[in-house]
Amino acid sequence: MNGARSYSVALLPGDGIGPEVTREATAAVDALAQEHGFAVRSAEHDFGGVAIDRHGTPLPTATLDACRAADAVLLGAVGGPQWVGGAETPETGLLAIRKALGLFANLRPARVDDPALSPLKAGIAAGADVLVVRELIGGLYFGEKVEGDEEASDLCRYTRREVERIAHVAFKAARGRRGRVTSVDKANVLASSRLWRRVVAAVAAEYPDVALDHMYVDAAAMALVTDPRRFDVILTENLFGDILSDALSVLPGSIGLLGSASLGDGGPGLFEPIHGSAPDIAGQDRANPAGAMEAAAMLLDELGEARAAAALRQAVADTIAAGVRTADLGGTASCSSFGAAVRERLTDRTKVAA
Ligand code: NAD
Ligand code: IPM
Ligand code: MN
Repeated sequence: MNGARSYSVALLPGDGIGPEVTREATAAVDALAQEHGFAVRSAEHDFGGVAIDRHGTPLPTATLDACRAADAVLLGAVGGPQWVGGAETPETGLLAIRKALGLFANLRPARVDDPALSPLKAGIAAGADVLVVRELIGGLYFGEKVEGDEEASDLCRYTRREVERIAHVAFKAARGRRGRVTSVDKANVLASSRLWRRVVAAVAAEYPDVALDHMYVDAAAMALVTDPRRFDVILTENLFGDILSDALSVLPGSIGLLGSASLGDGGPGLFEPIHGSAPDIAGQDRANPAGAMEAAAMLLDELGEARAAAALRQAVADTIAAGVRTADLGGTASCSSFGAAVRERLTDRTKVAA
């Protein structure tokens, strides 16, 4: 295979529905590799609750080393009721891997293809196309914590440099989209938000071709579900981005549709659906794997396999449009049958194109 493109991907299926959706996403990537002439070497590693059970820690050194050595990381989801309350939890492992890989930028796109799938009125959801750019390794998640029985606190701290680097990601992303950034904060109350707003405004001066506005997070939450077309790129801090992106998933119709990319300064990116381990439906072959597939498409884009990424997105959209839908979208398809339907389109499509 002279000159063949070959990539190594670390697979972290995790807990609950994580392994179910990751299986379908990796099977799609394998089919694409065949059709588009690249090779993927992937290996699974223990991460999350399953790693706590097997190794006593959610992020074993061997797993982190394998991620560092890979071209990209594909993650399912972690967590579950059985691990709540431990000193180390699946969620602390997730924060630890994001921090260790320096993944400060979390990109969460959502586009409404079929407003009939949205619980919102069609006239509100139709045409919405939003990218949340979430700062991922600062703020309340990583500030100093004090936890006692009578008192507890989490420090929300941001430095100028942390705000600058995520702002650049948002402005650059807007250039490839509709040229608008809405920075979301709580500057009417929080000092960290006032620094955020000042720094974002200063960075904006370097992007005169991009329009910037600012919104308070409470108003933004409302606008997201009443007037979503007003948004192009939403730039926000860690916790606000977490909350707003779950709300964002209501627009296309299910949290099971959204994928994300977590990126740093070079080094492997981490790609995952935005949903969690969904203990309520785990082990039932009922999860929607489309969000994991979107994460895989973002991974392929990052590796430079844009045609394969586009083919995957198209196959997922066509499968849903054809009425093959999992229960979260009102259908009867299983996770595995949805995955099989997508793969069928991937191989059919390439045969037609050939
Ligand atoms: P969740 O996202 O797991 O589930 C919320 C609801 O959405 C549930 O009703 C679930 O059935 C549904 N849902 C989620 N993904 C779906 C899919 N692909 N298809 C169909 N339905 C889907 O959120 P939760 O219940 O609050 O959290 C469960 C666990 O997951 C917790 O331990 C939490 O900490 C963890 N979590 C992990 C991640 C991650 O790994 N990145 C993200 C969010 C939550
Ligand atoms: C997410 C999740 C995580 C977060 C949790 C599980 C730590 O909700 O990826 O959106 O809050 O970042
Ligand atoms: Mn979340």
